[in-house]
Amino acid sequence: MKKRSSFTSKLGFVLAASGSAVGLGNIWRFPYLAAKYGGGTFLLIYLILAVTFGFTLMTAEIALGRKTGLSAIGAFKSLDRRFGFVGVLASAVPIIIFPYYSVIGGWVIKYFAVFVTGGVKDAAGDTYFTDFISGTFEPIGWFFVFMAFTAVIVLCGVEKGIEKVSKIMMPILVVLTIIIAVYGLTLDGAMEGVAYYLKPHMSDVSAVTILSAMGQLFYSMSLAMGIMITYGSYMKKDTNLESSVRQIEIFDTGIAFLAGLMIIPAVFAFSGGDRSALNAGPGLMFMTLPKVFNSMKLGGIIGTIFFVLVFFAALSSAISLMETIVSIFRDKFGWSRKGASIFVTVLSLALGIPASLGFGPLSFISWMNLSVLDIMDFISNSVLMPIVAFFTCIFIGFIIRPKTLADEVKATDGTFKAEGMYTVVIKWVAPIFLVLILASSIASGLGFITI
Ligand code: PHE
Repeated sequence: MKKRSSFTSKLGFVLAASGSAVGLGNIWRFPYLAAKYGGGTFLLIYLILAVTFGFTLMTAEIALGRKTGLSAIGAFKSLDRRFGFVGVLASAVPIIIFPYYSVIGGWVIKYFAVFVTGGVKDAAGDTYFTDFISGTFEPIGWFFVFMAFTAVIVLCGVEKGIEKVSKIMMPILVVLTIIIAVYGLTLDGAMEGVAYYLKPHMSDVSAVTILSAMGQLFYSMSLAMGIMITYGSYMKKDTNLESSVRQIEIFDTGIAFLAGLMIIPAVFAFSGGDRSALNAGPGLMFMTLPKVFNSMKLGGIIGTIFFVLVFFAALSSAISLMETIVSIFRDKFGWSRKGASIFVTVLSLALGIPASLGFGPLSFISWMNLSVLDIMDFISNSVLMPIVAFFTCIFIGFIIRPKTLADEVKATDGTFKAEGMYTVVIKWVAPIFLVLILASSIASGLGFITI
């Protein structure tokens, strides 16, 4: 058998995994949730959950990948045949997410193209975004372009593609985020936004706060979809696993925090302190922010920089999605990297087209008022991910036992400082919370509650 590829250094691993974690979720969802659910209180709750719950699940997934040297399906199956189904469910998540995530990636490239060619004013028009996404060929064209970028990098492999690109893109992303955040803070009226973001406002805190922080954490750290298992399978034994996870957490949470500083003050300055201008999702990024940029003196440049950084964030996440799918097919069928990459590209193009057309010619397809893209998002994020995470915890906590993976963490230098916490969280705390997350996200998807 051919030797499995690996990341050449700890830095390469940490940046690639951070590239997966830092994505659209950090930029268009985190700031909104933080502002809505209690400001400083939300930030504190999120931080506590990240260093306990997030740390535990990420450590477990990476250790599972490194121990078995396999992607999700094989990793579960090789340790207990009865749990192969968890690997299969986990693998379904990136297969569903990758196509529609790339459709959105295409929108990002389109907006970059518009801004860089001086189209700020156009992009700020009221119907510009809806006109664009309801088209037939244009959004599909940009989707293909985004997919091409991703596929070429994955085709180049773990060291020469993913690691190399992450080492260039991730530091640039940090610098660009800081530039925009600093500029945003200088705008008139920005401080009101900063206060709204950072000051605790307890009246907005409830049980829903914790659940939404938890759900966000999950998605943001790319957990429960086999990604960290796959990346772990490319991690060398002499790379310290525990400290790598800490660094990825700092990266991911740091960028989410900065994204808030980048977006909230600017939106407040633009809206004259009207909180309702701040919304989540595509509306924020493609409708509100272009208007905000249009109102700035340096809007053309700031907008262009913004879409470059969002492109890097989305691309590095898409790479991790595609690599995970490719490695599943390679492990399962013994395919070459090239063959598997071509197959995954064609499959994902085919699945992404309906997601794109769902806003135009296929807009008659809807369920609970959700478009095709939103339905894919709902099934993968709100239903499959909590189920996969729940069974992962049960599998590790009660079948193979926490110690099996703790030993893997210790393989580098014999230490695992947070072993006690990891054991308690994976056996008891996480499974209970995951059942609650699943119930609440299904209830909100079906319209019973709003998150
Ligand atoms: N973690 C990414 C984010 O915060 C989202 C993502 C989900 C990336 C699934 C890859 C896979 O946006």
